[in-house]
Amino acid sequence: MTRISTATIRGKKIKNEKITMLTSYDYSMAAMVDEAGIDMILVGDSLGMVSLGYENTLAVTMDDMVHHTRAVVRGTQHAMVVGDMPFLSYHVSVEEAVRNAGRLIQEGGAQAVKLEGGVERIPVVKAILAAEIPVVAHIGLTPQSVNQFGGFRVQGKDLETAQKLIRDAKLLEEAGVFAITLEGVPGALAQKITESLSIPTIGIGAGKYCDGQVLVINDMLGMFKGHIPKFVKKFANLEPLIMEALKAYKSEVEAGTFPGEEHGYTISDDILEKLY
Ligand code: KIV
Repeated sequence: MTRISTATIRGKKIKNEKITMLTSYDYSMAAMVDEAGIDMILVGDSLGMVSLGYENTLAVTMDDMVHHTRAVVRGTQHAMVVGDMPFLSYHVSVEEAVRNAGRLIQEGGAQAVKLEGGVERIPVVKAILAAEIPVVAHIGLTPQSVNQFGGFRVQGKDLETAQKLIRDAKLLEEAGVFAITLEGVPGALAQKITESLSIPTIGIGAGKYCDGQVLVINDMLGMFKGHIPKFVKKFANLEPLIMEALKAYKSEVEAGTFPGEEHGYTISDDILEKLY
């Protein structure tokens, strides 16, 4: 089976077909997402919150990302896997950024990387592209800027920031990124940005006019107990089902009803007798 390529993703915009993207962090989930035919899997640094239990994404390291990207890649055959560049992995120097992007490709097995930021990231984006690594940009409510923003706040609601986002998107397109994630921006602004670009936009909390959508998988499956943003639709509510199963397991083990005969292995009486 061939993997979805950057050309396929760009082609979807031309053909007016929506792009689907979800996050995954491990082999089993990635295999299901892949089997469901989702176009792109983002090994997001949201890993920090949903899998590692941090308050935000800032503590996630390159080693974390490489480790989880490898697991996701092993679970997939069809989807394009995008490795997220964590905080500080592309901020210190262009050389370090290229080396770290390269790790997600070479060690992690991803087909592309994603990084946050607008015009200020252009030199880094160009250097990573020069190393033949496809880049997805991410603008708007960029979670790695949480301390700068003073919280997770919708971006682009005033003229100045809305104009900056339009400009950032254009400059990132000119720099060569093949897609732009728009997070936490008003739908009408996301629509304007989407219409102004020849590359696809992939929205999260950015309305329905983006060329594609992405969600954090634990949020959309209803299996994350932390804060769930307004823009998330729970396509399932797995948490109560999981709790029910866990409680049933506990009570069956405690009552001695699990495991049953059907869950065990036998040994012949002959051999058993000789053991004593
Ligand atoms: O880390 C992540 O999951 C992301 C998405 C929210 C776009 O960056």
